[in-house]
Amino acid sequence: MKVLVTGGAGYIGSHACLELLEAGYEVVVIDSLVNSSVESLRRVERLTGKSLTFCKADIANRDTLTELFTNHKFVAVMHFAGLKAVGESVQQPLRYYQNNISGSLVLFEVMQKAGVKTLIFSSSATVYGAPESLPIKESAAVGTTNPYGSTKLFIEYMLKDLFVADDSWRIALLRYFNPVGAHVSGQIGEDPNGPPNNLMPYISQVAVGKLNKLNVYGTDYPTQDGTGVRDYIHVVDLVRGHIAALRVLSALEEGEVITANLGTGNGQSVLEMVEAFELASKKPVPYEVAPRREGDIAECWADSSYAADRLDWRAEYGVARMCEDAWRWQKNNPKGY
Ligand code: NAD
Ligand code: UD1
Repeated sequence: MKVLVTGGAGYIGSHACLELLEAGYEVVVIDSLVNSSVESLRRVERLTGKSLTFCKADIANRDTLTELFTNHKFVAVMHFAGLKAVGESVQQPLRYYQNNISGSLVLFEVMQKAGVKTLIFSSSATVYGAPESLPIKESAAVGTTNPYGSTKLFIEYMLKDLFVADDSWRIALLRYFNPVGAHVSGQIGEDPNGPPNNLMPYISQVAVGKLNKLNVYGTDYPTQDGTGVRDYIHVVDLVRGHIAALRVLSALEEGEVITANLGTGNGQSVLEMVEAFELASKKPVPYEVAPRREGDIAECWADSSYAADRLDWRAEYGVARMCEDAWRWQKNNPKGY
């Protein structure tokens, strides 16, 4: 059984490829390498002892995609390809709409033409905007605050509309909370370009000595210690949620759109994450209090009971393990790939 993984060379996609290969699937990756390196895939092959097929191309390249669907018989597509930097999306909205939305549109058209109608899409908790109540259920109101978030929401709408027109599609819209950590081998992990925007890679680079100190964006939130609270989820748990979704979609008698949160259901503050990382790495993580970051919300964590019921999936790893694995990756690969 062959799966097409778009964006498979990236952080989450490479972990998904590894998990798919280990679960016995064959894997074909399409990735433009706009934010990744093919080295991640070489390492996935080494770790699993299995090979995958790699195609360096943009998903908006209709001819290449069509050729892939002609040459391979896919049972499903896992769609990770996309640009994901919130601040950058505010500066370059058209690039984000072009890359994420137009690219996805071509992918879905080619899938439809090829009759491959099983899809797992990387959505994000960002579609909930500023949540009205916690934990966040899938039925919560949606609304976005930046172009990146809007691309995720529009792609969700596109797929729901597609299902209305053709109910044979089997679609999982997986809304990720905050993916962190790395494969236990320390061979693959998150490799941001330039100074990281997100908390965990920033902390890791401070611990390894690449950055001097962490800026803690706000200590005056109405939370346990005044810092922002998020639902951090181990990337390996996250990709196992995709395999669970793939199994459920494949076993459906008829088409469906399943929308599910992938989170742990627990919230951790910035200072709790700093403490957990210091414990795991045995390195100090000096920090300084900085003003709130524009667009940040105080707290956000998932109600993950629907994924538990529907996908028979739960996150297993806690924060200590997320930090240990992130540290192993960082320490072994201080310069990334
Ligand atoms: P990533 O940047 O590491 O991976 C994305 C991959 O897609 C990269 O390898 C990039 O080169 C590739 N890509 C981008 N545009 C492409 C295009 N048009 N054609 C072909 N390849 C393209 O990011 P990630 O953290 O692995 O995220 C994967 C997906 O999950 C993204 O869609 C992202 O928006 C979504 N997501 C990520 C997070 C997170 O915190 N990491 C949270 C929620 C949702
Ligand atoms: C951010 C994005 C979100 C995206 C997610 C995953 C914003 C506003 N939101 O979420 O859309 O889906 O990344 O890519 O960018 N923090 C610090 N110092 C830092 C970095 C972060 O104190 O240097 C704090 C933040 O204020 C927040 C927490 O750490 O309270 C987590 O931040 P981050 O890792 O950037 O994730 P989100 O803001 O949840």
